[in-house]
Amino acid sequence: MFNKRIKIKEILAKNPSSDQQYTVMGWVRTFRNNQFVALNDGSTIHNLQVVLPLGSVEENILKRITTGASIKASGHLVASLGKGQSVELQADAIEILGDSDPEKYPLQPKKHSLEFLREIAHLRFRTQTFSAVFRIRHSLAFAVHQFFNEKGFVYLHTPIITSSDAEGAGEMFRVTTLPFEQIPRKEDGTIDFSEDFFGKSTNLTVSGQLEGELGATALGDIYTFGPTFRAENSNTTRHLAEFWMIEPEMAFNDIEDNMDLAEEFIHYLINYVLKNNADDLAFLDSRLQEEEKSLPADKRSEFGLLEKLQLVVNNKFERITYTEAIDILLASPAYKKKKFKFEVSWGIDLQSEHERYLVEKHFKKPVIVTGYPKDIKAFYMRQNDDGKTVAAMDILAPGIGEIVGGSQREERLDRLTKRMEEMEIPTHEMEFYLDTRRFGSVPHSGFGLGFERMVLFVTGMTNIRDVIPFARTPKNCEF
Ligand code: 4AD
Ligand code: MG
Repeated sequence: MFNKRIKIKEILAKNPSSDQQYTVMGWVRTFRNNQFVALNDGSTIHNLQVVLPLGSVEENILKRITTGASIKASGHLVASLGKGQSVELQADAIEILGDSDPEKYPLQPKKHSLEFLREIAHLRFRTQTFSAVFRIRHSLAFAVHQFFNEKGFVYLHTPIITSSDAEGAGEMFRVTTLPFEQIPRKEDGTIDFSEDFFGKSTNLTVSGQLEGELGATALGDIYTFGPTFRAENSNTTRHLAEFWMIEPEMAFNDIEDNMDLAEEFIHYLINYVLKNNADDLAFLDSRLQEEEKSLPADKRSEFGLLEKLQLVVNNKFERITYTEAIDILLASPAYKKKKFKFEVSWGIDLQSEHERYLVEKHFKKPVIVTGYPKDIKAFYMRQNDDGKTVAAMDILAPGIGEIVGGSQREERLDRLTKRMEEMEIPTHEMEFYLDTRRFGSVPHSGFGLGFERMVLFVTGMTNIRDVIPFARTPKNCEF
């Protein structure tokens, strides 16, 4: 059997023993003195040192042990004298599985910029930084399911192709099989979607929420976890055209319950990674410190990565209203010194610079903002008695800005339809949604956590393109 190997993560936890034979397989990181191979198989940030028997490996094999080559090595474990590892493999057999021409291999054993690595994203998993990031991404995904499973939520698979615009923001990718060369048109010149694949106009989903509500108002508590798509032309370090979102939706649940769940959820995810990815986090922590050395003192983070994560899990999030947030911004030195690019007044959509001021400068911890003006939020949010605001809540995180967006939903049929009419949302296409308010309507709420923003927060990476395997952004769809 080919795969009779032990993973490097496991072997590094074993004790030296002369009579236990192991086989490892992996990719060569470095090869020194014709004897020491630093081998990595992706199971851990750490390399295994494989020591070749001096003089007994053929010259033509030695020449093929180059950075990037894949090899198989067998031998026994001995205590290591080298620093940073307790054991090493004393190899008695070595086999080249795949050569890697050192002249052509793009990943040299030296520091490469993240920008360069983005261009070779197909190979960047082989670097320490990206292997750590993607192991942590995996852990977070696993913890998402564990959290909701422990709480008795049902994982609901909402559709990727839909005919509705859940957020009402119109930033959708169209899905069609209509021929571009000969688009069928109706008499009035508009496109005849009855000839399209689904017989109507369809798009990739921007959110699974609406279908999530349909599930929650029968199953009680559900969550979705899937890809979502936004054709917003935002070329920033926080936006992707294809990103993953987790959207829990809970019946018999109000805005306070919703905030409590979101906070508990974020704490849970961070604690899971602190416990299960300690080595990867330690690596990313020192990487960040190293990166920041080149920055001017006032641009460096106040806390190290681990310190920041500990602070977040050990403290409650700040909770303020939108109106309080505006007051804080208006009273801030940044506002008085005209440091904000965008205007500040009641009614504005908070810009990223405002959000970051609140969390990074003012509160220095995550902040939950509630009670946003209804005019900047989606139609489904529950209207407050003041007639001006809705029961929305956004969670803002240091270094990220908005990481969660959610709300209590409008469960009162008359209020909901009136709002939809005001916002020109065709109610006749949404009868399925309105049925949940017609038959046994209940107070309910939910939120969406942007998965990549969560991975950014936990890994301390600063560009969202570096926490998803293959980023889709405006004018970029490689791999
Ligand atoms: O605030 P948003 O647009 O909310 C919704 O979609 C609701 N339907 C969620 C709900 O209540 N069920 O998006 C939710 C989160 C944001 O807070 C952000 O973290 C992330 O999704 N997000 C993005 N992440 C990466 N790239 C983008 N273009 C994103 N747009 C939103
Ligand atoms: Mg939002």
